[in-house]
Amino acid sequence: MSVHLEDTRKVTTHRLFEMKQRGEKISMLTAYDYTMASILDQAGIDVLLVGDSASNVMAGNITTLPMTLDQMIYHGSSVVKGVQRALVVVDMPFGSYQGNSKEALASAIRIMKETGADCLKLEGGEEVLESVCRILTAGIPVMGHLGLTPQSINKFGTYTVRAREEQEASKLVADALLLEKAGCFGIVLEKIPASLAKKVAESVKIPIIGIGAGFAVDGQVLVVHDMMGMNSKGFSPRFLRKYADLHTVMTDAVKNYIKDVKSGDFPNESEQY
Ligand code: KIV
Repeated sequence: MSVHLEDTRKVTTHRLFEMKQRGEKISMLTAYDYTMASILDQAGIDVLLVGDSASNVMAGNITTLPMTLDQMIYHGSSVVKGVQRALVVVDMPFGSYQGNSKEALASAIRIMKETGADCLKLEGGEEVLESVCRILTAGIPVMGHLGLTPQSINKFGTYTVRAREEQEASKLVADALLLEKAGCFGIVLEKIPASLAKKVAESVKIPIIGIGAGFAVDGQVLVVHDMMGMNSKGFSPRFLRKYADLHTVMTDAVKNYIKDVKSGDFPNESEQY
């Protein structure tokens, strides 16, 4: 009788590459703190992204632009402490890599040194290629991010699906090839037509992780607060599947706590010293 043993080996960028080769899908979620990271890691997630979406779900900002290097380092080091198996990717925040490649490398080195993360992600293609190359020369693995890149929201003016038009689609494919050639270990594709994502995934050997990019890619990523249903404001894009309704669960728990405190039911005899 064969016994199924959980694979507890640390996930590496090389193992993600092997997963793509054998057609095993890669699971990825965001995490921003120690407790959530521990839960997701122990549940067996392959990759944890310390996303700059922390700006939205942790700090309450409308865009990801206000996030600072220090804030990303705080979230990154908190997540790393909770993880044993998953690959930990930290987002480089807006303004920390676009200026020039020397600044980009300095930011990258700070994140790697001060968080203990495994690798970094940054947004863009040709425009940030020099920075990508310089970071890679320091031995830091880099993940790309194309399509709807939230740090460029002021240029796009809308969170709608990107690369529906031929010109933007061709640039996206060309950028993916450039990032692969430069040495990126993977690329996130956000909110683009599924047929285009499929084309990219078939054109490169590195793993393509989608969010709103259909099923014909090598893995999926979601913002953990969204898939857990913690969002109260009805954020419900088509690509989001909710796996829990934590907003209701937590609201009910808090209401019960308030009721118990007000009525004097909490604490009781056995809950005191
Ligand atoms: O910051 C983030 O959460 C991300 C994902 C949406 C991929 O970049």
